[in-house]
Amino acid sequence: MKKVCIIGYPAKHSLSPVIHGYWLEKYGIEGKYEIRETEPEKFDDFFRNLHEEGYVGCNITVPFKEMAYQLIKENGRLIGNDNYLGAINTIQIKDGQYFGVSTDIFGFFENIKINSPEFEFKNSNVVILGGGGAARSIISDIVLKGAKQVILTNRTKKNVEKIKDELTDIYSRKVKIFDWEQRSEALSGANLLVNTTSLGMVGQPPLEIDLTNLPKDALVTDIVYKPLITPLLQQAKDRGNPIVDGLGMLLYQAVPGFEMWFAEELKAKGIKGVEVTPELRKLVESKL
Ligand code: ATR
Repeated sequence: MKKVCIIGYPAKHSLSPVIHGYWLEKYGIEGKYEIRETEPEKFDDFFRNLHEEGYVGCNITVPFKEMAYQLIKENGRLIGNDNYLGAINTIQIKDGQYFGVSTDIFGFFENIKINSPEFEFKNSNVVILGGGGAARSIISDIVLKGAKQVILTNRTKKNVEKIKDELTDIYSRKVKIFDWEQRSEALSGANLLVNTTSLGMVGQPPLEIDLTNLPKDALVTDIVYKPLITPLLQQAKDRGNPIVDGLGMLLYQAVPGFEMWFAEELKAKGIKGVEVTPELRKLVESKL
């Protein structure tokens, strides 16, 4: 039986086993998705031993996405374009060789495509709040999809300056940095506002932002999904802005991993791809 796991610290409350478990059952595939909470000092060894432990792949979550990227860069292969700016979340192991990819990007864009199909990245002005791993993973693809301008603003300014510096010229030219104190001013003319900070999450302080300058038709999305409707999304909804919650990103980022790990099993059953059904969404929502 194929074994997959999620590695993080903490990882106990991860919802990934619910998502992958749903697909294993729905498609009648024999497989196991385990939680392997791993202390940071043990990550390196654990990661290198995954193959010996019988895993065909894994998801990587906080705080190991950057470390996994480095390890794959040195000892494995990155799949797709190298736009991840140093962080990956999905590993496939085939004949002992490690392949790494970030599916957060797919999750982010698919969530918007499915839940706000009228939104166009082409010629858009985008404001991204935050400069952590999530901001890193989506920025270059937002530019690649044709955004006219991307404004980055983060409490620690040097973190977003670093992101801008790491981008190649064609991307970097489109990126503007605003002081965190000016985040409300940055919203003038925006078509899309994305919160990638942890603010607004259960147990974290709220995100304080004045949406007055945000055009009423701008799409607002949050990668925080607990609570499902964050104070930012509520504030946006109350003034009539379209919103997309963050749960879809979690659900869709899981799709490419499952399809890689269980490709043979799906093929044998004539299943082209796995679906994020309303039933799956409801199931995960019930566990939030
Ligand atoms: P992720 O990988 O999910 O993006 P992360 O790398 O820890 O997580 O990033 C968290 C983001 O939330 C960062 O942009 C962080 O800002 P800093 O770079 O200044 O740390 C932001 N964040 C966390 N707590 C915050 C707070 N109290 N005020 C403002 N921003 C905060």
